[in-house]
Amino acid sequence: MSKITISIDGHSSCGKSTLAKDLAKELHYAYVDSGAMYRAVTLFFLENDVDPIDAPIVRNALENIEIRFQVLDGQNHTFLNGEDVEDEIREMYVSDYVSPVAAIPAVRRSLVRQQREMGKAGGIVMDGRDIGTVVFPGAELKIFLTADVDIRTRRRYDELRAKGVDIDLALVKQNLLERDHIDSNRADSPLTKAKDAVVIDNSYLNRTQQLQQALKLAKERIRLSE
Ligand code: DC
Repeated sequence: MSKITISIDGHSSCGKSTLAKDLAKELHYAYVDSGAMYRAVTLFFLENDVDPIDAPIVRNALENIEIRFQVLDGQNHTFLNGEDVEDEIREMYVSDYVSPVAAIPAVRRSLVRQQREMGKAGGIVMDGRDIGTVVFPGAELKIFLTADVDIRTRRRYDELRAKGVDIDLALVKQNLLERDHIDSNRADSPLTKAKDAVVIDNSYLNRTQQLQQALKLAKERIRLSE
């Protein structure tokens, strides 16, 4: 059976990673969370006081960042220069700063290069904002996932509360809207739906239902590619 490339793009907190992980598991494909890579770069910049508007300093920092993924106890973990930063990159202080960092062209160039390398053999599900438009414009299946903003806010809020983060619902919504705005309006590869992407609105779908829809599409595309 031939192995295709699947991209899942969409706004913040609409469940892209959950769908991408579920789909990769069903198909026995690799899963890459490209947002985790932007988050890891952001964490490095924060920890090392990298000034994002100082181009030579940004270039130098990027040369000193090594990101890799490892599955531990069935969970995907992100490693930054050998250190497991999976929990830290999900903290609010990283979320608050990640969109401006992700708007820096040098950062995007570097991460897009690494993402293409990870996907060159096919058999991959990658989620993000520019996967179907920039990273893999030739992907056999492109999904654009979307959900109502209040539903996304509630999901993100519940996720943070479950982790013990004490936060206000209004602040979560504000962070989501700000990130959506920056991600959709930046000059370099803004979040847009690829012309050939299939839209799935999961506002009223549960995890199994969204997986079934995506799996049906994936199986069709795998058949077509054979
Ligand atoms: O998917 P996420 O929320 O973990 O992504 C974190 C940030 O990284 C998000 O605000 C936008 C940015 N991002 C991006 O610009 N391009 C990608 N392919 C993935 C994420």
